[in-house]
Amino acid sequence: MQENREHWGNKLGFILAAAGSAVGLGNIWKFPYITGQNGGAAFIIIYLICILVVGLPVLIAEILLGRHSQRSPVSTFRLYAQKHKTLWIAVGWMFFATGLIILAYYNVVAGWSLGYILESLTGKIASLTSASDAAEHFRGLITTPAWILFWQFVFVSAGGLIVYFGVKNGIERIARLLMPLFFIILLFLVVWGISLEGSDKGLRFLLKPDWSTVNFKTVLIALGHAFFTLSVGMGVLLTYGSYLNKHDNIFFSGVMITLLDTVIALLAGLAIFTSVFAMGFDPAEGPGLVFHVLPAVFSSMPQGGLFSLLFFSLLSIAALTSTISILEMLVSTLMDETKFSRHHIVIGISLVIFLLGVPAALSFGEWSHITVLKLNMFDIMDYVSANILLPLGGLLVALFVGWYMTKKGVLNELFQGYGTDLSKQRAGSIWYFLVKFVAPVLIFLVFLSAIGVLR
Ligand code: TRP
Repeated sequence: MQENREHWGNKLGFILAAAGSAVGLGNIWKFPYITGQNGGAAFIIIYLICILVVGLPVLIAEILLGRHSQRSPVSTFRLYAQKHKTLWIAVGWMFFATGLIILAYYNVVAGWSLGYILESLTGKIASLTSASDAAEHFRGLITTPAWILFWQFVFVSAGGLIVYFGVKNGIERIARLLMPLFFIILLFLVVWGISLEGSDKGLRFLLKPDWSTVNFKTVLIALGHAFFTLSVGMGVLLTYGSYLNKHDNIFFSGVMITLLDTVIALLAGLAIFTSVFAMGFDPAEGPGLVFHVLPAVFSSMPQGGLFSLLFFSLLSIAALTSTISILEMLVSTLMDETKFSRHHIVIGISLVIFLLGVPAALSFGEWSHITVLKLNMFDIMDYVSANILLPLGGLLVALFVGWYMTKKGVLNELFQGYGTDLSKQRAGSIWYFLVKFVAPVLIFLVFLSAIGVLR
């Protein structure tokens, strides 16, 4: 199976694809609204700490695990788990299940974004002058099953088509094409946002911490989001790492991916909050922020229609390069575990994902009455996967690399393609310490606080 495993064309291709995975709805849709709801700058500081001491180390651990095994998650655990093999294989399948859940509801939001490109093109967005108009329009759309299901279907198909062509010709090629385009659009939007009159209020919101709203729950949300935004905790980067060559530098790539993801989240926050504040809208609006606050913001500024078109293109690109990474993990798992071909698996699994997404898609209209603990299907899928399954997955990866594998084997793998001079050895030791002790303890504490044991 390993002899004919595909590999990335080159290192840059891998970094762009992995950064494309990391940069997604999480950065542009979720990060701004949870920042808005959790106190702005204070939340950002906690989030950055989570990224640095937990997210980055576990991200490197995941990539390392995949590069070492050259296999998908389930097969990797089967190969390396000496004790409790069945349990670890089950962990691999838990990753698979997490991927199914995230992908299912993620495609729904991605579909909205695609639909909003058309809404921008037809001039509809530019005509929504008040926030309540824009909100009502959004409500109207997301309670129309035909509209949501259509765009969801288009999006699932687009992702499927790319993954159908494989790692080098599908994923890598699209990342090379779209990531630079993404960056250009983003920079343009940031400059535009800052140049608006009154944008300084948005800057202050992003830079001046208000600690009064911070509690354990804030930290849980920040940690969960650190995993979500970096694509860590369910074997996606493990899978991408499994297509790396032995001479590639995992440490450097991990730092680059994390840096790109963080900078892009902050830039997106900058573009969004400067315009939201400049136009006098509410930053704590929640999940609807980019779909009903921004359209109203757009229509009240000069050339808003163009801004809107660019923004939703940006969001769709970000979402696409992320969905294909999750899909690739699912496909790769089934390719390693069954005898089916990539093509058959892609078609089958895309269909399953579309169907699983239907309850999430209908959560806002037809099926909004189906709730557990006041959460609709969409919210449950989001909450369970992002706040429980991902941190749990991250914890298990850290434990596996830190405690199940030998330190020598792990560090050898890290230093391959990285080098072994003294400063690198030191960086390696710090990383190992973070993965073995710091990350597991922190994740565990946050879990305890979440279930109310710590107060
Ligand atoms: N990181 C992406 C985002 O911020 C979402 C994502 C892609 C993801 N692949 C993942 C999340 C794997 C968790 C695990 O939108």
